[in-house]
Amino acid sequence: MDFLTLFAVYVVVVLTCIILVCKYSGQEQTPFSILFNFVGKVVAPFTPKWLQKFSQWTLHKLFHQRNNMFIYLHILLEGAVYAEFTYEVFGFCREMDTTLTSLSVPYVLLVIKTFFFYLCIRRDPGTVTKKKIAGQLSIYPYDRRLFHPGVSCETCQLIKPARSKHCRVCNRCVQRFDHHCVWVNNCIGAQNTRYFLLYLFSVCAMAGDIAVLTGDMLFHAVLRSGLLRASYIDEFGQQQSAGPLFVVQHLFLTFPRIVFMLGFLLFVFFLLAGYALFHSYLSLVNQTSNEWYKSRGYMCQHCYPSATADHLCSPAPDHSKRYYYSRGLRRNLKEIFFPPQPIQKKDN
Ligand SMILES: *[C@@H]1O[C@H](CO)[C@@H](O)[C@H](O)[C@H]1NC(C)=O
Ligand SMILES: [Zn+2]
Ligand SMILES: [Zn+2]
Repeated sequence: MDFLTLFAVYVVVVLTCIILVCKYSGQEQTPFSILFNFVGKVVAPFTPKWLQKFSQWTLHKLFHQRNNMFIYLHILLEGAVYAEFTYEVFGFCREMDTTLTSLSVPYVLLVIKTFFFYLCIRRDPGTVTKKKIAGQLSIYPYDRRLFHPGVSCETCQLIKPARSKHCRVCNRCVQRFDHHCVWVNNCIGAQNTRYFLLYLFSVCAMAGDIAVLTGDMLFHAVLRSGLLRASYIDEFGQQQSAGPLFVVQHLFLTFPRIVFMLGFLLFVFFLLAGYALFHSYLSLVNQTSNEWYKSRGYMCQHCYPSATADHLCSPAPDHSKRYYYSRGLRRNLKEIFFPPQPIQKKDN
């Protein structure tokens, strides 16, 4: 495969990932789990029992129970990128006269990102508790569309406040539930959506900045090598000037780790930028991923041709109320960054 084909495949894969993430965030049955179950069923007769048990156990541990695996993976990947940046790119950049100030930006971003990451992990997303429920119930009125009054959670034995949902991984009900994020091993809800948004943006900034610095370094390396002016003799004895493909091949061979890292960073950047934009959009229209996913069922077949016959259309779809919840951008953002606190009743 030549480079252009590879690049096209890469772009298609990234775009597909972005679309899938947007489409299926906040949904429990993802195509991934469906595919996994399917593969599991197909290979089941050929695999020993203990292996089946083991893989089910791992899957359960990883995706259906709280665990820190993805936090460790996150730190590991980040550590690898920063090690590569510090030990290889940094030195090259210094030689190319990049200022120390711009080279220190990734480290500043790392500190900022770690701060928000920590808050996402540690902050209570807004667990519905016996003590706080009275206050939590009064925050949002029931819309009688997605959330109905008087419904209680069977597991928690508490009335479900409007906009809340029971998280099966954490086994608790969470106020203004958005989704459960395995990367921070926590639910994203009323009290930590702001940190989650800031975390997403800081990861994007981090990946983007290191990618720009690395790209700049490679660009200067090519300029210095004089490859752009170079030429070679092809198999027919003709003189050919080295084209861009030649340059890319040269970079791959000279700086394999750096080029690989750049590819990884671009992948992360585009994926997370899409995801961050999707979450910004949701914040701006006062919706959670959970509500966004649920309310899609209310669209009529007209505008949603793939909807099945039994889809929810009972309250006649009203397109003018697509942003039913929104009371203006400024107020929506205020609600994310200064979430209403449940007033606790003092029992004395
Ligand atoms: C967001 O939507 C809820 C309805 O679920 C509503 O009660 C609340 O007032 C809305 N907030 C803003 C700022 O529009
Ligand atoms: Zn519950
Ligand atoms: Zn959760």
